[in-house]
Amino acid sequence: MAKRPVIWILNGPNLNLLGIREPEIYGNQSFDTYFRQLQSRYPEIDLHYYHSNHEGDLLDKLHEIGFSCTGIVFNPGAYTHTSIALADAVKAIESPVFEVHISDVSRREPFRQISYLRPYCSGHIMGEGLAGYDKAIRELLSLRK
Ligand code: DQA
Repeated sequence: MAKRPVIWILNGPNLNLLGIREPEIYGNQSFDTYFRQLQSRYPEIDLHYYHSNHEGDLLDKLHEIGFSCTGIVFNPGAYTHTSIALADAVKAIESPVFEVHISDVSRREPFRQISYLRPYCSGHIMGEGLAGYDKAIRELLSLRK
């Protein structure tokens, strides 16, 4: 029997406030609600979700899952623009990582134009709202050999 794909969604700092935080940028829906929708949309996938506001926790999670899962959908929040450590972790692990941003960071402040992780990711999606996570799951599934 073919193995079930295992996909993790990792959200970084402040993304626990989705639905409350700057709704004009990030929308009105909480991530927990959206995640339940994703789980019912993809019953054939073992879909997991992890959030942390702490860089070290995100590093530990990448190390823990990054050598065994099918793929990782990663929204590192503001750490995108600052963290060489997370970039190194994405480079070090074996599972493909898709970088997702809810907003279109390319049209926002200059400090959001840098992503230290992007060179080591299998792709990125930005500015598609929460739907970007769904798209990234499909992209990761299509990478499977
Ligand atoms: C974000 C964009 C980042 O610049 C910001 O710091 C976030 C959210 C996004 O999903 O659009 O926290 O990653």
